[in-house]
This record gives sequence, C-alpha cells and structure tokens, in this order.
Amino acid sequence: MKIISVVGARPNFMKVAPLIHSIEKHNKINAHSITHILVHTGQHYDDKMSKVFFKSLNIPDADINLEIGSGTHAEQLGKTMIAFEKVLLKNKPDWVIVFGDVNATLACSVTAKKLHIKVCHIEAGLRSGDEKMPEEINRLVTDRLSDLLLTTDKLSVENLKKEGIPNSKIRFVGNIMIDTLDANREKSNSLNITDIIKNNLIIKSSTNLNSHKKFALITLHRPSNVDDRTILTSIANFITKKVSIELPVIWSMHPRTEKQLKKFNLWNEIIHTTNIYIVHPLGYHEMLKLNMRAKIMLTDSGGLQEECTILGTPCLTLRWNTERPITLRKHGGASVLVGNNINQIKKEFTNSLKQRPKPHRPELWDGKTAKRCLQAILNYK
Ligand code: UD1
Repeated sequence: MKIISVVGARPNFMKVAPLIHSIEKHNKINAHSITHILVHTGQHYDDKMSKVFFKSLNIPDADINLEIGSGTHAEQLGKTMIAFEKVLLKNKPDWVIVFGDVNATLACSVTAKKLHIKVCHIEAGLRSGDEKMPEEINRLVTDRLSDLLLTTDKLSVENLKKEGIPNSKIRFVGNIMIDTLDANREKSNSLNITDIIKNNLIIKSSTNLNSHKKFALITLHRPSNVDDRTILTSIANFITKKVSIELPVIWSMHPRTEKQLKKFNLWNEIIHTTNIYIVHPLGYHEMLKLNMRAKIMLTDSGGLQEECTILGTPCLTLRWNTERPITLRKHGGASVLVGNNINQIKKEFTNSLKQRPKPHRPELWDGKTAKRCLQAILNYK
C-alpha cells in the first residue's frame, strides 16, 4: 500500500508524528508493506514554525516540499493544488491522509479526490458553525469529500451524521495530538523555565522571571483577533494593563501577530512593559513545559484548548465559538469561551485565577490513537 501524508502548517506536525511512528512499527513486523511519502506544502516555512518540530518530534524530513509559502487563501490553495497534482500523478498513492483544518488540508483533499485517490481525514467532524473562519471552510469541504473520516470525539461523529455522511465512512479513534503529548511529557518536564525564556526572548528583558513564580501564558494568531485594529488594541491593552499587573506574562508571538502589532503601533508599548516576556514561537517541548506550569492560558489556538484540557490549565479561549466543544468546562474540559469582549475576558480572567488545575481525559484520548488510525486505513473496504 502506498500512502501520502500531507502537512502544511505548525498544528499538523504534532499530528503526523505518531502516525509516522505507527507506520514504522507496522513496517518492521510486516515486511515494509506500507510505502509512506511525507509531503510538506511549505505553508509554514520559518524554522521556528516548522523545522524545529520535525527535529524534536523525530519526524523524518519531508520527502517532498512544495514550498508554497505565504499568500492570500486563493494563492495558497491554488499553488498547493497545482504542485500537489504533479506529486500524485507521479507517485500514484492508494491513500492521501490530511490532518486538521489548514489550507493544505483542503487543497490536497480536493486534488486527490479529483484523481480518484482515496482521502482519509484525521480530526474530521469538528465544527465551529462559523463560516467566516477559513478553517471552517477547510473542514466542511474536506469532510464532504473524504472516504474515511477519523474523529477525535463523539460530538464530531454526530456533526458528520447530521450532514448526511454515512456511518460506514466514520470511525471514532480519539485525539492523535494527545499521543504526542503523552509521548513527550517526560522530556518536556525536564526542561527549565528560566532557560526556555532566556533562549527565546525576542526583546532581551533586563528582569529574569523567577522560575517558581506562576505566570500567564498567551498565544494569539486568529485573523478575527489580530487583523482588526480596534480588537487587537483592546486585547493588547488588557494584557499590558491588567494581566501583567496580576502576574508575569509569557507571550509566544506568532509571526502574523507580530506583524499586526507593529502595523497598529502597539508593539513598542508591549515590549516596554515590565513583567511581559515576549518569546519567539516556541518548540513543542518548551510550549508543553510552560503549559504544565502556567497559572492560566489565554489563547485562540485550537490545539492548546485540547492540551489545557489534558493538563488541567484554566484556559480562556479568545473566540466566540469553538470547533472543540469537548474542551469546554461544561464538558469537563479546562476552557471557557470569552470572545474578544474585554469585560467578559476580565470577569473570566479573575474567576480563573482562583481555580486549581483540573486535568481531564476525554474518551479515547489515551495516547493510542495513531494505531487506531492506521488500523482504520488498513481495514478499509
Ligand atoms: C495557519 C492556519 C491555522 C493554524 C495556524 C497555526 C490556515 C487557514 N490557517 O494560520 O489554522 O491555527 O496556521 O499557526 O491554514 N508567516 C511567517 N512565517 C511562517 C508562516 C507564516 O512569517 O513560517 C506569516 C506570513 O507572512 C503570513 C502570516 O504569518 O502572512 C500568516 O500565515 P498563514 O499561513 O497565512 O496562516 P496562519 O495565521 O499561520
């Protein structure tokens, strides 16, 4: 069997790692019966957004890099489809596996389907209901076309059924990203927080964070939060004038956000606020270690909501909706939706500071999802 797996952007890398390791294990006992080709579309190209994850998670170098880079959505999708079609025509795989909801996921599933190649979507069925999010369009189209839809939870199975996807295409396998979390917990735990900050600071700060102190951990990158001047200004003010007064802040800065903060003249104030440590996009183990020790997370990332649920870190999700309701407090998770309304964010921030970590493991988030994904593909009829 020949399989092509596609990755494009940061959140894909921690999902492909366990699958590749599962295929390697399978091949050892089955006379290399699976030929696996890893394609990187190159949507994320900075070393800190891509290369470090390959190295630290033991992902072999991509066999093929399409080097698509930045651009508008249509540019990224169009360029990826043109380049990926050539890869498919040359390699003729039996399956294309796509992950999550990034532009590579959509572009490569459409391209494969048009060439009558079977598509497997890992992390199928997540829905925010918000079609203004580019990721929601990617999820909807990919799921509509996929032959095999592997879901992280039963709520996603219900979403797919409501959309008329037949049961025979759906398998509830659990969350593959948690395989990576479990496999890397020990290594992350051994890291030193002071070193993580020192080695990653964007602006060298004169003060050192006392590594025994609790801190707030921040990541932001969604266009809905960072592309609008008024919204980004109010979030930045909240961070400089409220969060950093209560406790030290570690802010892992996404390239899109850095660009926007500079464009809206907010960058200088942030970097000159004492108690705020701005760090480059962090490696996997570094981020996990900070998440293990954070008093509170403020984020608009999807994956971090899930990791906070497993670790129990109270998580303020700066979005009005989530495609991952299983991570919400009402389902036992650690996350609460606060949108970008500062009053609401303030209220939940104060509440969350009083909370103790409450780790929670949803069904089948057990570190064994990759094996179930591979079995589902091998058993497909
Ligand atoms: C993408 C994904 C999003 C995911 C996020 C994680 C889509 C539609 N969005 O959003 O689902 O949560 O990645 O990070 O696929 N840039 C760099 N260096 C890089 C990559 C990007 O400087 O390595 C800059 C580019 O100039 C670009 C901007 O960051 O304009 C945004 O990158 P882009 O790939 O468009 O989307 P993300 O916001 O990263």
